[in-house]
Amino acid sequence: MRCELPDADATEQLGARLAESVRPAVIYLRGDLGAGKTTLVRGLIHALGYTGRVRSPTYTLVEPYACEPCPVFHLDLYRLADPEELEWLGLRDMLGEPALLIVEWPERGSGVLPPADLTVYMEYSGNARLARLVPATEAGKLLLGTVRSRTPDITR
Ligand SMILES: Nc1ncnc2c1ncn2[C@@H]1O[C@H](COP(=O)(O)OP(=O)(O)OP(=O)(O)O)[C@@H](O)[C@H]1O
Ligand SMILES: [Mg+2]
Repeated sequence: MRCELPDADATEQLGARLAESVRPAVIYLRGDLGAGKTTLVRGLIHALGYTGRVRSPTYTLVEPYACEPCPVFHLDLYRLADPEELEWLGLRDMLGEPALLIVEWPERGSGVLPPADLTVYMEYSGNARLARLVPATEAGKLLLGTVRSRTPDITR
């Protein structure tokens, strides 16, 4: 599925639509620096009711959110030197409970990170952005359910 995202609000809205079907899963966010990955996560986490600031975990690499119906772990692996470092970040614990892992720069964790249920590819389109959402599992398809049915305005 492709979504045209004319501005940052539209990117947040896409995150909010994903939040409606949120479930334990692994989402990869792929795209260049500034493509809008953190913006999408912000929309998702705010839609789950978190009212604080959602910042990029640039230096901590992971930020946990105690949300319902499951905890959310936002990972930004841009500064991960080696996939093995994921153990030090507590990946085992994150995967030890039903949780949503949403991961920027998943390629940096290749080989250690579990495979994606859903991959969101984000790219520049002039000043706007395009998102392509590609499910890989049943959980990934279920995550897309609400995007498909409730956002005819931003999808084509
Ligand atoms: N659809 C959009 N159209 C225009 N600007 C957008 C859109 N979505 C997000 N932005 C803007 O792009 C900038 C970068 O966004 P963001 O930090 O989410 O990118 P990122 O992919 O997380 O980058 P990084 O790889 O550095 O973590 C922000 O200023 C944000 O408001
Ligand atoms: Mg980011």
